[in-house]
Amino acid sequence: MNVRRSYQLLVLPGDGIGPEVMREALRVLQWAGKHAGVDFTISQALVGGAAVDAYGTPIQDETVMQAQQADAVLFGSVGGPRWERLGFSLRPEIAILRLRKELGLFANLRPVILFDPLIEASTIKPEIIRGLDLVIVRECMGGLYFGEPRGIETMADGQRRGFNTETYSTNEIERVARVAFDLARRRQRRVCSVEKANVTESGLVWREVITALHEREFADVELRHMYADNCAMQLVRNPKQFDVIVTGNIFGDILSDLASMLTGSLGMLPSATIGVSRDGHFSPALYEPIHGSAPDIAGKGIANPMAQILSVAMMLRLSLGLLVEAEIVEKACVQALSSGSRTADLAAAGEEFLSTSEMGDAVLSELERTD
Ligand code: IPM
Ligand code: MN
Repeated sequence: MNVRRSYQLLVLPGDGIGPEVMREALRVLQWAGKHAGVDFTISQALVGGAAVDAYGTPIQDETVMQAQQADAVLFGSVGGPRWERLGFSLRPEIAILRLRKELGLFANLRPVILFDPLIEASTIKPEIIRGLDLVIVRECMGGLYFGEPRGIETMADGQRRGFNTETYSTNEIERVARVAFDLARRRQRRVCSVEKANVTESGLVWREVITALHEREFADVELRHMYADNCAMQLVRNPKQFDVIVTGNIFGDILSDLASMLTGSLGMLPSATIGVSRDGHFSPALYEPIHGSAPDIAGKGIANPMAQILSVAMMLRLSLGLLVEAEIVEKACVQALSSGSRTADLAAAGEEFLSTSEMGDAVLSELERTD
């Protein structure tokens, strides 16, 4: 992949802690641009509750268009109690769902890596998680989130009924499975496909399609199938058995939150949402922490910016081809943790902790050391 000299980036901080952690991530991005000698043209827009307040919609059409034209989108987080009572079309979460759908981003990559200095921050015993390194590949343009029919109706007896549909078709399954198999080839060559083929037709089709694709194109990769409930249990019992997990939208959502806690904090995990690759790089693509807007701590300046910073690293690697800088940023995060930098979510009870911007400073000073 060639490195271009200038990139168009769209930054969408969103709500709650989004803008606070984004500020630190942008400092890291500036550092990377300078180090690589490339220019970033950065546009920003409001999304989520902030956009509802300003424009009466969780995301403007214009913002979706800007995202389509950008080389990559860096997203913060959306939502909060203030907007919870709004009708469905006004919910802040629509912003991210629309971006995934309209940018054609069907695969959400969620790496779950235990950083050694954080081994004590996890609620799981050290021997179970030491060296943990797995990736969840979550389908995110289909399944229960988008399936039709969906809606709310009033039944003849006056009861209300909400309904959604879990659907998966051959093409939807194959394209996300290809991402998982390709990724596994660059790792330990092991894929675990997760569904509920024992109780759902969509799960059964998922299993059949993946099995056939595996036989046709990816026989060199080991494939296992697992029911989603068992997978949740296995992730806590023995997470190191997994290399790449591939699963649908709703199970991927739940299992990735669960998996994040193996690493000590939801505040540590970045993610990349990608579509088809163009000669090895992904564009458009969207990068976001897997944590939400954390309204309980928003405005206090204590959120952990690591997941947002590590999302920048994924963007540098997967969309911009700045592999050197991606690696340096990741190393700087580990280094900052090794030298004891902790935000509140990672600190032991009673231990002192850094503010969001102090954690940013800690990463930046590690970065500057490499210059
Ligand atoms: C995530 C989030 C989103 C999801 C919400 C904000 C719509 O929880 O990215 O995991 O459910 O996909
Ligand atoms: Mn989620």
